[in-house]
Amino acid sequence: MEPITVLRDKRILLGVTGSIACYKSVELASKLTQAGAKVDVILTESAARFVTPLSFRSVTGRPVYTDMWGLDDHVRHVGLGESADLMLIAPATANTIAKLASGMADNLLAVTALAARCPLLIAPAMDGGMWEHPATQTNVGTLQERGVVVIGPAEGRMASGLGGVGRMVEPMDLLGEIRLRLGMSGPLSGRRVIVSTGPTREPVDPVRFISNRSSGKQGIAVAQAALDAGAQVTLVAGPTCEESPYGARVIDVQTTQEMGNAILSCVDETDILMMVAAVADFRPNAVSDRKIKKNENADWGLAIGLEKTLDILSAVKERRDVTGFPRMVLGFAAETHNAFEYGREKLLRKGLNFIAVNDVTADGAGFAVDTNRVVLLSSAGVVEEMPLQSKTAVAERLIYYVAGALGGV
Ligand code: CTP
Repeated sequence: MEPITVLRDKRILLGVTGSIACYKSVELASKLTQAGAKVDVILTESAARFVTPLSFRSVTGRPVYTDMWGLDDHVRHVGLGESADLMLIAPATANTIAKLASGMADNLLAVTALAARCPLLIAPAMDGGMWEHPATQTNVGTLQERGVVVIGPAEGRMASGLGGVGRMVEPMDLLGEIRLRLGMSGPLSGRRVIVSTGPTREPVDPVRFISNRSSGKQGIAVAQAALDAGAQVTLVAGPTCEESPYGARVIDVQTTQEMGNAILSCVDETDILMMVAAVADFRPNAVSDRKIKKNENADWGLAIGLEKTLDILSAVKERRDVTGFPRMVLGFAAETHNAFEYGREKLLRKGLNFIAVNDVTADGAGFAVDTNRVVLLSSAGVVEEMPLQSKTAVAERLIYYVAGALGGV
């Protein structure tokens, strides 16, 4: 797990209550800690029967609190509640949910939840029948009315062997939800951002296509950085094996035309377009609807005829000249030579605010690696010549500049 900027030194209060899903909370505590957060865990008495405080202490490196009150503990709940940036109770049993809804304070976790002034998230875990029971539903409704965020529960097989809705949401999704909440008031709060990523594929026949080496990693990192800055993110993704960031609306596309259609359909309500995708510039001028057979290709010859695809950024520019949206456009230029000159020419031709130029042949930059070396240009010249760094760090710098420029629009 890589460190995560929005989680660095954040104090997360993780409440754990008595459900078999407790073991997954150890993984969550571990991931949050690796990501840079300071995780304080409170276990209820029944949770401590499923997992020991030592398990949590071992992964967080911090004291773990239980219902065993000591002599010096009389205001511990206030201290824990007040110092936290966010409190998550995962798993949250029907019993704890009922306590929270009625304001009961008969254990350290419940009393801390009452004292806390930070956002409270709960991830319920229980059997399907208990979740659906009107008592639980009423309690959950009461908590939601008070601003508590309820994550899940998910559908699937439960400890009872029965299926249904009641499983705790998986740790990585809980981490994604925490990340979203902590980023919410960031510099792009309330802004709409479209990020394109990956390659496009232009079909030759039903089994073959023309494409390029893009992995989609840089675009996904940009989408994640925009989410961390509080934006509402639409990720228009060509075929990629990378996982989409939690919280993004994802539109999957294959061809340049599909990518262009998806972007143009929502560009009018958009503040920022970050065009990271490696879009195919050419496509076969005829697509066979049957597989082209080796021995029956007389009509096709051995050459594939090509035609130009839509230049998406140029189409966006035409629209933007009329509507003024998107307010900010950043393009990428992947080059193998004369990177600076080509980048500058594209910035002007495509009417961009910024262009991130990278020499994809440079060591550690380019396709399928986790690092990149980028020079950011605006019409005024070089904004920053960035060092070789992770694609995550590149993405965060790009968001920093675009958010700053948008603030001044
Ligand atoms: N781009 C686009 N539509 C295309 C091709 C590219 O919108 N049909 C976008 C890319 O997503 C990128 C920028 O334009 O943000 C520059 O892409 P690049 O492939 O470097 O430039 P091209 O315009 O394709 O020019 P060339 O092939 O001459 O390098």
